[in-house]
This record gives sequence, C-alpha cells and structure tokens, in this order.
Amino acid sequence: MVQAARGTHDILSNDCRRKHHVIGIFRQLSDHYGYGEIQTPLFEFADVFNRLGETSDVVTKETYTFTDRGGDQLTLRPEGTAGVVRAVISGGMTADLPLRLWYTGPMFRYERPQKGRYRQFDQLGVELFSPAHPHADVEVIALAHDLLKTLGLNNITLKINTLGTTDDREKYRAALVSYFQDYKNDLSPDSQDRLTRNPLRILDSKDPRDRALIQKAPTFNGYLCQKSVDFFGRVLEGLDSLSIQYVHDMNLVRGLDYYTHTAFEFVSNDLGAQGTVLAGGRYDTLVEQMGGPHLPGVGFAAGVERLLLLSDYVPPTRVPIAFVPLGDAAERRGVSVCYDLRAAGLTVEQGFSGNLQKRMKRADRAGAIIALILGDDELDQGMIVMRDLKTGDQRLVPLDQLVAVCLNAVKQ
Ligand code: HAM
Repeated sequence: MVQAARGTHDILSNDCRRKHHVIGIFRQLSDHYGYGEIQTPLFEFADVFNRLGETSDVVTKETYTFTDRGGDQLTLRPEGTAGVVRAVISGGMTADLPLRLWYTGPMFRYERPQKGRYRQFDQLGVELFSPAHPHADVEVIALAHDLLKTLGLNNITLKINTLGTTDDREKYRAALVSYFQDYKNDLSPDSQDRLTRNPLRILDSKDPRDRALIQKAPTFNGYLCQKSVDFFGRVLEGLDSLSIQYVHDMNLVRGLDYYTHTAFEFVSNDLGAQGTVLAGGRYDTLVEQMGGPHLPGVGFAAGVERLLLLSDYVPPTRVPIAFVPLGDAAERRGVSVCYDLRAAGLTVEQGFSGNLQKRMKRADRAGAIIALILGDDELDQGMIVMRDLKTGDQRLVPLDQLVAVCLNAVKQ
C-alpha cells in the first residue's frame, strides 16, 4: 500500500483552514509590530546548517542531507533562523537596522515521531536584527505573548533564562564538566555523551538519574559577568512593565547552540512531552559565525501543529448553500444557477449523484444552511424550492430573484 512517509501527514480542508487562521493572526500581528515577510528556500547548502554548531542534535543527528545531481551537498531546513541569517548576509540587508523579518513554512527533522513531533512540520517565526538592546528581546517576547493570547491559548508558562556571553558560557561549561565528571558513572548514557559534547544540555535532561545531580550542580549565576546580569535584568524589567509573567528557569538551555544572553520557551501543560509551543532567544554571534558582519539578532519560532493542538478554533461554515437538482433538465439549468450565485460571492456546492435523500444528507454534512431544490415542475414555472436547513421551512422563489434572495438569507 502507498503510505505517507513516517512523521509526515496530509492536511485536509478544515485543518488547512485552521492552519491558515493561525498563520493569518500571526501575519497581522507581525505587520502590526513592523515586521516584513521573508521566504527562504526549503533547502540550503549543508554548510549553512553545519555552521550552527557541532553539538546540537538538530544539526548533527536530525538533518535530511543529500547530494544533488550536480554533486552539491544540500540540507532540508530543520529550522528558519539559519536560512534567514544566510539571506540577510547574501542579500546585503545589514545596512538599514533594525531589520524585522517574519516567516512561516515547513521544516524537516529526522526525529522519532510522536504527538506534537513530526519529521515535516510547520514553523512560524520572527527574527529581529539590530545592535544588541534588551528592548529588542522584550519586543520579540511581547509579540510571542500577544500571538498566544490572541489565539486564545491559556495554561502556558513563559520560562526564561540568560546564557550570558560566549565567555561566560565557556567558564560555566568548565565548571559543569568538573562537577559532573565526579559523578560520571551515575549519569544517564545520554548525559555521559553530553558531558564532552555539550554539558549544558545535561541541565535539560528529564532522566531521573540526572535530575538529582542537576539539583546540586553549580548554577549559571556565579559565572555571569556584570554586563550579562545587567542585560538580563533589563529584559525582565521590560517584561514586568508589560505585566508579562515569566518564570526564571536557571536550567533552561536550548537545543540549538547559537544562543547568547536571553533564551526563552513558552511551555504548555496540555501537550505531554512535547510541551514547548514556542521558543527562541538572542544570538549575538551567529551572523559573524556564518560569514557576515557583527550583527546581533533575537527571534523565536513556534510549531504550528502544536499551536493547533491547543487551539479550539472552529472555522465558520464552509458551504452555506447546497444545490440539489432533481432530474436531467434541472441539472442542466443548475450549471448557470450555481454559476450566477457564485459570481455574486456566495459559496455553493453541488453533488453530482444520488437521490434527494442522499444529497440532502451530504448538504447537512457540508454544514449548509440553505438547500436549493430544483425539480421539473418548479423549472417549468421558473421557480426553485428554497429550504432553510435549520428550521426546515421551505418556500418557492422565482429563479430570476434567486441571487438577491440568497444574498439576503445568508446575511441573516
Ligand atoms: P526550536 O526550539 O528548535 O527553535 O523550535 C521551535 C519550535 O518548533 C518548538 O518549540 C516546537 O514548537 C516546534 N518544533 C520543533 N521541532 C518540531 C517537530 N519535530 N515537530 C513539531 N514541532 C516542532 C528553533 O527552531 C529556532 N530557530 C527558534 C528561534 C528563532 N530562535 C531564534 N530565532
């Protein structure tokens, strides 16, 4: 049997409409905050993502990389930031700052699929490039907060932390390695591996063997320089001034390596293991790392599927009018009846087979509020039966007045 590849799924009519609804709200809000859209390719040279860092799983274990027919090594994008940064550099967009960009689209990660985690999934996100300023972080978090609020998502906690400068991190990393080294054999196998590759990620571990050790591990606070402390203080002060609530989670580290200073996640309690609906942070050295000038950035991305799992939005009725012709002549006349109604802006659906009962059932399933039934007798009189599917009332309407009557009925 032909099947969809593992971790992928088809999205059908109503779910597409729910998705467009979420993206539409995000687009509106981004406009409002002064962000312009950017669309980058679904694949880039593998090197674009390799430069994100060698210690992140997203880059080392989860990419779809292939050699194309011309011999180039390409990677399907696992996230949006790298492509946007590449576009900013190669398009020379670094002169007019701040530069505010938003994007949506599919991303690809070779992960173990489960609820809320797929191999092809959609992200929506923003990136803001400007000289580093805590208010840029506040702006981006406020936009994320507004998005979740406008979507009506509750029960979501904002967790925030600072990862300091690259120097701060090096010092903290050394302290963590020296601490965990003493307990190496007590750590989970994953964390033993992280100990040399990326010890900060141990802090993120959910494994009970690691949890007890993490509680007693040195915290980042002791290794942050004054500048980092002040920067973070001003970000929190900005959030306070907007009454955006947060939890300072000192164990929050992100799965991608490029973050400096602020890192944050909006986490839902209603999604099980894949609770992070939106995440991001500041990356002050990434643009340089990828071959561009010194240009700090901050941004976030949300998983659209996760937002949809939490949203109870139901799209409005799709097809308000069902046309039900009975017999050959009515079917023929129906072609222009439906055409005229649609030209007037009405949504009409017509089945092509089945008896009256079957067609009425189908109209009901489509969520129609009006059925237009055309039989030979009515046709002879230049009339059509209009049935209100909510009340069951029906009446005869002259065909030449049908458009006006339907427009009126749908408005009510
Ligand atoms: P990320 O944390 O890797 O960050 O992904 C952001 C969001 O994408 C996650 O919080 C989650 O909602 C969604 N997501 C990630 N992987 C999957 C998956 N396999 N299936 C479904 N949803 C998923 C980034 O991607 C960064 N680029 C965010 C960023 C932008 N940081 C700064 N600017």
